[in-house]
Amino acid sequence: MKKIPLATPTMHTEERQYIQKAFETNWISPLGQNVDEFEAKVAAYAGASSCAALSSGTAALHLSVILAGVKENDIVFVPSLTFAASVNPIRYEYATPVFIDSERDTWNMDAAALRKAFEKYPHPKAVMAVHLYGTSANMDEICALCKAHDVPLIEDAAESLGTTYKGKMTGTFGNYGIYSFNGNKIITTSGGGILVAKREKDVDKAQCH
Ligand SMILES: Cc1ncc(COP(=O)(O)O)c(C=O)c1O
Repeated sequence: MKKIPLATPTMHTEERQYIQKAFETNWISPLGQNVDEFEAKVAAYAGASSCAALSSGTAALHLSVILAGVKENDIVFVPSLTFAASVNPIRYEYATPVFIDSERDTWNMDAAALRKAFEKYPHPKAVMAVHLYGTSANMDEICALCKAHDVPLIEDAAESLGTTYKGKMTGTFGNYGIYSFNGNKIITTSGGGILVAKREKDVDKAQCH
């Protein structure tokens, strides 16, 4: 059977130089200049005030769920079409995901279905929007609904680093946003993720968690 690779990462000269430098300076831990610079560059690129590099996008989502105050038995709205990694952190906190149907155009969370979900479950603890395959969800309507119900918005932008919605980077609309640097993502660190938050103190809190 002919296989079509999802994404094949490539490495270049600069990567080799950084690895060589890490050996020469015996730098393996803890976090250091490279990670600090990476965080600063991602924050500047995305237009976020600050961000925290983490071991995975899943870890960043888990911290977002915790920062949003999600606790056991809380309800979190999440799209029905996404990867298990979006939903798992909700379950890590023993909360209940309520799945919202997708719209045809973007395959992402359908704002009309989200509106209906708010009628059925008026007090979700958070809404998680996902931008699948580099396509932005309908942020105008999703943000407006979250604002109207005063519910924090988490953006799973694992797959959409560089995607803009009306000129603004996905991942920066919500209270919390995440990018993944897993091997099949837009750029990769082999494994890793980043959390961006609206309030700088949330990033500080995540780093101490
Ligand atoms: C939509 C989505 N959310 C979350 C994740 C989790 O990211 P990570 O593999 O870095 O934990 C991925 C990718 O793996 C993803 O595609």
